[in-house]
Amino acid sequence: MAAAAAALLLLALLLPVSAAASPSPSDDAEAAVSRFQEYLRIDTAQPAPDYAAAAAFLRGQADDVGGLEARTLELAAGKPLLLLRWPGRRPSLPSVLLNSHTDVVPSEPHKWDHPPFSAALDEASGRIYARGSQASPNFDMKCVGMQYLEAIRRLRGAGFIPDRNIYLTFVPDEEIGGHEGIEAFVASKEFKDMNVGLVLDEGLPSLGEEYRVFYGERSPWWLSIKARGAPGHGAKLYDGSAMENLMKSVEAIRRFRTSQFDLVKSGAKAEGDVVSVNFVYLKAGTPTPTGFVMNLQPSEAEIGLDIRLPPGVHTEAFEKRLAEEWAPSSRNLTFEFKQKASVPDKFGKPAITAADNSNPWWPLLEEAVKRAGAKLGKPEIFPASTDARYFRELGLPAFGFSPMANTPTLLHDHNEFLSKDEYLKGIEIYESIIRTLATLKDSYVDDESRAEL
Ligand SMILES: *[C@@H]1O[C@H](CO)[C@@H](O)[C@H](O)[C@H]1NC(C)=O
Ligand SMILES: [Zn+2]
Repeated sequence: MAAAAAALLLLALLLPVSAAASPSPSDDAEAAVSRFQEYLRIDTAQPAPDYAAAAAFLRGQADDVGGLEARTLELAAGKPLLLLRWPGRRPSLPSVLLNSHTDVVPSEPHKWDHPPFSAALDEASGRIYARGSQASPNFDMKCVGMQYLEAIRRLRGAGFIPDRNIYLTFVPDEEIGGHEGIEAFVASKEFKDMNVGLVLDEGLPSLGEEYRVFYGERSPWWLSIKARGAPGHGAKLYDGSAMENLMKSVEAIRRFRTSQFDLVKSGAKAEGDVVSVNFVYLKAGTPTPTGFVMNLQPSEAEIGLDIRLPPGVHTEAFEKRLAEEWAPSSRNLTFEFKQKASVPDKFGKPAITAADNSNPWWPLLEEAVKRAGAKLGKPEIFPASTDARYFRELGLPAFGFSPMANTPTLLHDHNEFLSKDEYLKGIEIYESIIRTLATLKDSYVDDESRAEL
């Protein structure tokens, strides 16, 4: 007995302190990566996301981090929204909300080298392959959701206590418009009670060293244009056929599309600052059981367009162009909006967040990123839509930010990956951001009047 105890004591003395007392930084990193992989392995792809598994996993993570109050809200049946609160010392201060969504876009698994829900780690490159590993409009943002939690885990480990409440939301349905997710949530009593002062939500990866940050986003207008015209024999040349009427519009729309795309290609404008127009469907012809009638010019033809408008666009002028050049009734064209997102916020102003010193949160964010040894790029308009728009429409400041540098935004949606090192670096960035934003500021961020927003 005594000999065994003495041997154990001797062993303990011989072991390096760090190994005996707490895990080494590389063990911590490995554990963080494997927790990320675990989240990535949950198949939350639309249209049938396993929300229950994601919510259960994340709740377990929150318990493991400790110090977080968890509530699962079900604002729509079968669509759990996990709400976490890290209580601040001064809960009356405006809070910070770290938002992420749990659903991801579908994938075509056969085109992937590693199955999209395997979260395979390629040891040589350090890349983790999975749907949801990046945050971008094509992929999604499981990385950011886990980085928030990992950052809080470390801050708690370092004994940090926030002054203001820090909230985390893990929401469903972003990929399908957020109506039963964030849109329902911002209308809830739970949300009002949170007294949110600032929201962080998803951004996009950057190719270079600087992190991209987004202060607004383009609004989607989904439009169909329908042409009518006299039907006729396929051999006859005549004016006013539905196809001819429609093709004139297609030409005008393509000229406009080219002018906008050229601005991006030449570098004169960022992607989020131009109006994008893309054709999404063409519908015409007289069908037969095996194809189409080939010698008949049809009496109807239709196209569908996905248009994205930056916040600064004069929407009335744009609609005038649409009615006069793209779909004039004089050419027997009609148009219909399938969706026309409002550009202004509830005060009638473009729903953008000031990314300069007029917004007291902005310098804090800049400073926090700098403290972590990194830099923010020039603030941009997000080219597509995110849940952040629902906060901005309420007049709340919201920044889109996903700390992923040196990462290509993949054009094809298979083989999505994030490097392990970028993931870990991102946790450090959030550590700095949360620490900075959570700390009471001797400035008008914390004025009672601002908390009224
Ligand atoms: C539009 O339709 C009307 C009625 O069918 C027809 O008389 C007219 O020629 C058409 N105009 C054009 C430009 O197709
Ligand atoms: Zn997303």
